[in-house]
Amino acid sequence: MSDEKVLIGVIGGSGLYHLDNLTLEKYVNPETPWGFPSSPIAICSLAPSPTKIAFLARHGAHHTHHPSTVPSRANISALKSLGVRVILAFSAVGSLREEISPGSFVLPTQIIDRTKGIRPCSFFEDTEVVAHASFGDPMSLGLVRWLEGRVGEVLEGVNTNREKKKKEAGEGGEGGEGEVKLFKDKCIVCMEGPQFSTRAESLMYRQWGADLINMSVLPEAKLAREAELSYALIATATDYDAWRPQSATVTAVEVFKTLKANAEISRKVIAAILEDLQKAITKEKLLLEEVGTMKYSIMPRT
Ligand code: ADE
Repeated sequence: MSDEKVLIGVIGGSGLYHLDNLTLEKYVNPETPWGFPSSPIAICSLAPSPTKIAFLARHGAHHTHHPSTVPSRANISALKSLGVRVILAFSAVGSLREEISPGSFVLPTQIIDRTKGIRPCSFFEDTEVVAHASFGDPMSLGLVRWLEGRVGEVLEGVNTNREKKKKEAGEGGEGGEGEVKLFKDKCIVCMEGPQFSTRAESLMYRQWGADLINMSVLPEAKLAREAELSYALIATATDYDAWRPQSATVTAVEVFKTLKANAEISRKVIAAILEDLQKAITKEKLLLEEVGTMKYSIMPRT
């Protein structure tokens, strides 16, 4: 086993519980001051590359943690304790926009918090330190911009393959899978579950300017910021939530339908970008910009 540092942490959402296209080196399960993470963390590589990543299933390896009770502080703290500096977080999301059809990939840059006051969201709670992390840009924009190019290339490859298969199947062949689109600079609402939104709420989020909805990006992104880790969400759309008058509202069964295909492409994305991301982290400054660090966030005592 190589002794290269594990700089990249991958958090898998619904449907993405393992990376069986990578080589598993070992599992670790660090206990943190906030307890154990959602699942043991798999240290994986893409042999023969020495680059390793730490993979954590947000809802547990068998989907046992629901979004409101995911131990996010333990998850972020455990990844940090392994030396992780950059987190790619995957999540199934509902779409609030017609053009973001189920199966689309999205790299959002903004978040609206509808979980405030409900979930523990700071490492500084119950401490004597008063800290206000900078969160105007909740994702690490350098990382997001880098991902836009690289994820786009992987999806182009997926689409070319799908097109080829369609042609091979000929006129009478099956319709096959559609194009996987990539959207950038979108805004996601993070809601408290476990029930999905009402139609009225879904319409309201659209009026607020939101494009996507999930139950998981918070407090994860806030905690990553407090832990001074670079963080980006790779969202995969599974449904149209409840705003479309012509459609039935979202059900868990509908969400599950697209999860498998989305997870397969997510695994491809991870394998394809892994090595370059490791290099870019050090060479292209994908780490959290200094202004986002806690250096400027702790209130001085008077
Ligand atoms: N995750 C996937 N689809 C969702 C939706 N419509 N609302 C909230 N979370 C989701």
